[in-house]
Amino acid sequence: MDETLARAREAIAVARSIVVLTGAGISAESGIPTFRDAMTGLWSRHRPEDLATPEAFRRDPRTVWDWYAWRRERVALVQPNAGHEALARLERVAAARGADYLLVTQNVDGLHAAAGSRRMVELHGNIRRVKCFDRGHPAASWPSETPGPPPCALCGSPLRPDVVWFGEALPPEALQAALDAARRCDVFLSVGTSGLVEPAASLPLAALERGMAVIEVNPQPTPLTRRAWAALAGPAGEILPRLVPLESTP
Ligand code: OAD
Repeated sequence: MDETLARAREAIAVARSIVVLTGAGISAESGIPTFRDAMTGLWSRHRPEDLATPEAFRRDPRTVWDWYAWRRERVALVQPNAGHEALARLERVAAARGADYLLVTQNVDGLHAAAGSRRMVELHGNIRRVKCFDRGHPAASWPSETPGPPPCALCGSPLRPDVVWFGEALPPEALQAALDAARRCDVFLSVGTSGLVEPAASLPLAALERGMAVIEVNPQPTPLTRRAWAALAGPAGEILPRLVPLESTP
């Protein structure tokens, strides 16, 4: 492991173009359960696949809105961890030596931004933002005391979280930016994602097809592990600070 880690650290240190893909695993050490582990307490009798869809919202807007309000409250209580911080540091290190850098995240928790990451594509949106269901008008604020979704101030349509639900398309410009970067990079780092959900799962494959160094950080094996140039088995909060050590900060 130490040898693989040293090889990966060296590849990152000299890369001209770096893409990082993150999933729910990077936020696990902040105390946010991964999507499929998230249904505790009040919500344990629901399945996420039954709540995170436009059909569910049409059928029962109040339950879906209240579920997201509950998740939003939990996200607001947690802090970024050493893994998020190491990636924010990597962005600064890359900028200082003129290398390209893009962080592509499937997470909706906003913890990368809270840690200081700026060059970022949020493929699945952000739970802290809200827009209206019919026309996508963004809402900067909304009354929190009323149960269920408040109406859009512009058109009256119910407000919903600005996230990508099952059955919805990803924002095309975000996906295109992620794909372009994955095709151009010389190092691709995949962190804390099961690699089961498309189209994000194809991003490391685009880098692999071009023979680029794909580095995975995950305590569990995934479909990518055997194909990765370097697979680092362990938690992101421990491995990433070793890949981007504090002393590398400009
Ligand atoms: P998953 O919940 O599918 O996978 C989480 C991954 O994180 C697993 O492979 C774990 O082994 C790994 N993991 C757990 N703890 C970790 C740690 N401390 N450090 C590093 N890795 C760790 O989450 P995603 O791959 O993000 O989509 O799921 C992708 C998408 O599927 C989500 O964005 C969501 C979901 O359904 C939408 O909501 C559209």
